Amino acid sequence: MNEHPLEQLIRKLPKAELHLHIEGSLEPEMMFALAERNEIVLPYASVEEVRAAYNFTDLQSFLDLYYAGASVLVTEQDFYDLTWAYLRRAQADHIVHTEIFFDPQTHTARGIDFLTVIEGIRRALAQAEKQFGITSKLIMCFLRHLSEEDGFATLAEAMPYLSRIDGVGLDSGERGNPPEKFARLFARCAELGLPAVAHAGEEGPADYIWQALDLLKSRRIDHGVRCTEDPALVARLAKEQIPLTVCPLSNLKLCVVDDLAKHNLRELLAAGLVAMVNSDDPAYFGGYLNTNLTASRAALNLGAGELIQLISNSFVASWLPEHDKTFWLAEVRRIAAEEGYAA
Ligand code: ADE
Ligand code: ZN
Repeated sequence: MNEHPLEQLIRKLPKAELHLHIEGSLEPEMMFALAERNEIVLPYASVEEVRAAYNFTDLQSFLDLYYAGASVLVTEQDFYDLTWAYLRRAQADHIVHTEIFFDPQTHTARGIDFLTVIEGIRRALAQAEKQFGITSKLIMCFLRHLSEEDGFATLAEAMPYLSRIDGVGLDSGERGNPPEKFARLFARCAELGLPAVAHAGEEGPADYIWQALDLLKSRRIDHGVRCTEDPALVARLAKEQIPLTVCPLSNLKLCVVDDLAKHNLRELLAAGLVAMVNSDDPAYFGGYLNTNLTASRAALNLGAGELIQLISNSFVASWLPEHDKTFWLAEVRRIAAEEGYAA
């Protein structure tokens, strides 16, 4: 099939990715290779069998496989290899800045040292900056299906390495685990100077987005697509320019929407929200960043202006220093103009 002209624009523009779980970039091929290296027996006979199991009905049905898959990650080299594989794909998609999540509790609960995890990830991030010029931030997520006490224990383990952590997040099963459950933990993180983000309004109600803003002081909302159920919330997100890190293929695979053509991404942009596109767990949801952008373009018939807005928003919402944001926003405009699209 011929490439749509806007797909070339998507490929050529520099981009930032702000919602990527590094454990969610574990491709089945690597899952098998690491299982063999670490002498772990997987409950699947082949890579094809793993892929065939990726038929999710909701967030929890995905999380069950995602946590099981992460059990092959054992050594510092495993975490390096995982992160490096993502960064190579990021470079291929012309991502110039990435802010990645990691879930330490998934690993420390299996007896893996916190240091093993963070050293492997950080070594790959440093290598990517040197070799590809990709800058990055690392965000430590707390698992919301666990207790706040468990979160405090993880924060205590992280204390010696805080200089290597750029912020904190909240992920895992949203239903029944409201942000308010973690208000004291996030207040402590704020005292330590760690900026916060939180998953909210993916499967959970709009009220969880209010809680993430008011009780966790979340600077961005991860997903946030259910905000449109509450016009007063949309007005606030627009007024305060709180970014939403939207993940269209994730929403489709986890049945948050039953058809990508019904996704509210365009509505979010039209309401003046700082929304952008991300891949979430690309190995599980069928595509990395450019695939998310091209699939969204096709399903929603997004125009050049909307794509340029989404990609510009990825830099506006990032935690890059202001002068870097200004530089990349000018690059987006320059390259768009070169391609024949006035921004
Ligand atoms: N952990 C990994 N992906 C997630 C998602 N989409 N929602 C909540 N927790 C996650
Ligand atoms: Zn996520």
